[in-house]
Amino acid sequence: MKKTTLWPYPKIVAHRGGGTMAPENTLAGIRCGLSHGYRAVEFDVMLSSDGIPVLMHDPVLGRTVRGMGKVNHLTAAQLTVMDAGSWFGPAFAGEPVCTFERAIRFCQQNDIWMNVEIKPAEGCEVETGRIVAKMAQACFATEVAAHIAVPSAMTAANLPLLSSFSLEALRAAQVAVVAIPRGLLATVIKNDWLEQCQEVAAVSLHTNHKFLSPVQVNAVKESGYGLFCYTVNSRKRGAEILAWGVDGFCTDRIDLIPADLVMPAGDTVNK
Ligand code: G3P
Ligand code: MG
Repeated sequence: MKKTTLWPYPKIVAHRGGGTMAPENTLAGIRCGLSHGYRAVEFDVMLSSDGIPVLMHDPVLGRTVRGMGKVNHLTAAQLTVMDAGSWFGPAFAGEPVCTFERAIRFCQQNDIWMNVEIKPAEGCEVETGRIVAKMAQACFATEVAAHIAVPSAMTAANLPLLSSFSLEALRAAQVAVVAIPRGLLATVIKNDWLEQCQEVAAVSLHTNHKFLSPVQVNAVKESGYGLFCYTVNSRKRGAEILAWGVDGFCTDRIDLIPADLVMPAGDTVNK
């Protein structure tokens, strides 16, 4: 039986906080997105050595936070005094590594919707999925209860969407808090995408737009799943995939793509 399509979320989402306009996965990034009119954000979450979820993309120090070694070998107390802004530019020097909880609170205060990418360090898939889901549940207790009482697109829209490339992490999130929706990340849509989505009761499939075809879009939409793309950095490409039927995408170019981009039929944009 055909499922009802479910994408009650914003269409255009700022990638890693503020895309290329601010240091990724920081509060400064999310603030920057907000200043560009973005009330929807994607960021990556990983666990510290003491099990505290923090915003972080890379499993090792070096690129965005100075140092060497694994992120999950440091405690949250150690990580949250580290500088995650200097690598981007002197204006962001001292911008700290942000805890997931702090990011949630900021988003709640500013009415920002979150796509939380669970980014487990190797071997920490189950723990990361479980802890991220539990923290989301604790911070959205009222909204989770409302969604359980009346499961609908409207009540789902008030919750974050948890996504991951890791099926193990998604399964753990599902077991921990079934009511918080999940999206499966897959670089390329392979033949087993539907089984994998079913396995974790995902509501959406998230994929790299570079490898996407209109035939695949139709297949995903026909099956009733939300379809979200990363990382689209031109209006023209954004318009194209939305016209194919993609539900939404995240972007690094919050300066080029308006958060409320609406593509009327036949619109041609060249940027
Ligand atoms: O969630 C979409 C996108 O963020 C996945 O890739 O490496 O930017 O986390 P990455
Ligand atoms: Mg990500």
